[in-house]
Amino acid sequence: MTDARRALEGRVALVTGAGRGLGRAVALALAAEGAAVALAARSEAELAATAAEIDRSGGRARAVPTDVTSESAIETLVRETLAAFARVDVLVTAAGTAVFGPVADGKTADWDAMLAVNLRGVMLTCRAVVPVMVRQGSGTIINVASIAAARAIPGAAAYGASKAGVVAWSRGLAEELRGAGVRVGVLLPGAIDTPLWNATASAPDRAKMLRPEQVAAAVVLMATLPAGAALEELTLLPAGGIL
Ligand SMILES: NC(=O)c1ccc[n+]([C@@H]2O[C@H](COP(=O)([O-])OP(=O)(O)OC[C@H]3O[C@@H](n4cnc5c(N)ncnc54)[C@H](OP(=O)(O)O)[C@@H]3O)[C@@H](O)[C@H]2O)c1
Repeated sequence: MTDARRALEGRVALVTGAGRGLGRAVALALAAEGAAVALAARSEAELAATAAEIDRSGGRARAVPTDVTSESAIETLVRETLAAFARVDVLVTAAGTAVFGPVADGKTADWDAMLAVNLRGVMLTCRAVVPVMVRQGSGTIINVASIAAARAIPGAAAYGASKAGVVAWSRGLAEELRGAGVRVGVLLPGAIDTPLWNATASAPDRAKMLRPEQVAAAVVLMATLPAGAALEELTLLPAGGIL
């Protein structure tokens, strides 16, 4: 069913990390605003479930299994998105991974994984989508960082470093694209109750965290501001503050 009042009717969004957690909530929220949505992550079954949910609510989705650490997979993702929907109006880079713990116990492999997915994956995805948006003369990129990029959180030094990179990357990209009609924003959420916390033994109180739907509402706001205004950095915290 189409509804001319929906803010993203006729628009196309590409969301990484769309199989679960925040990315899934963002994909559903953008679809509810009328966007056709390309869904990327590695787990095919989770992507299929998100796509089915969008289909059931009358939206359009295309699942494209993708590892954001792979340049060629990202090229395929963008190619398949264009083949399905012809344009990309909104990019949300929500794919991410987190391992928390003291620096002295940190495993190099965990640091490498966080940098590869959280920072390099965002860089590769943006680079692949930017030429499409520049050609269109319009588009909104929303990179998901974290409050850990801006405030010191014990146990999150490596994760925070990867996310601080995302903030710096987003600021630089925003300047580069200012004249091209493409806006770039970066979102710094506090703790969100998602499966990301399942593997963390000492997770903060999940009942006090942000709901993924609340964060998705902020993403929709960033994506639907009228042209000429850009929400370039948005910190979103649970009512109780950082946990
Ligand atoms: N949860 C929080 O408290 C919180 C707070 C601030 C910021 N964030 C950020 O928000 C984003 C979403 O996190 P979340 O809490 O929703 O985490 P999540 O529930 O663990 O979901 C992470 C998503 O990223 C995907 N992903 C991970 N590695 C990937 C890879 N190599 N290639 C493609 N997709 C990959 C996962 O799918 P596959 O594993 O199937 O690939 C999954 O869909 C992340 O960037 C996270 O750092 C989270």
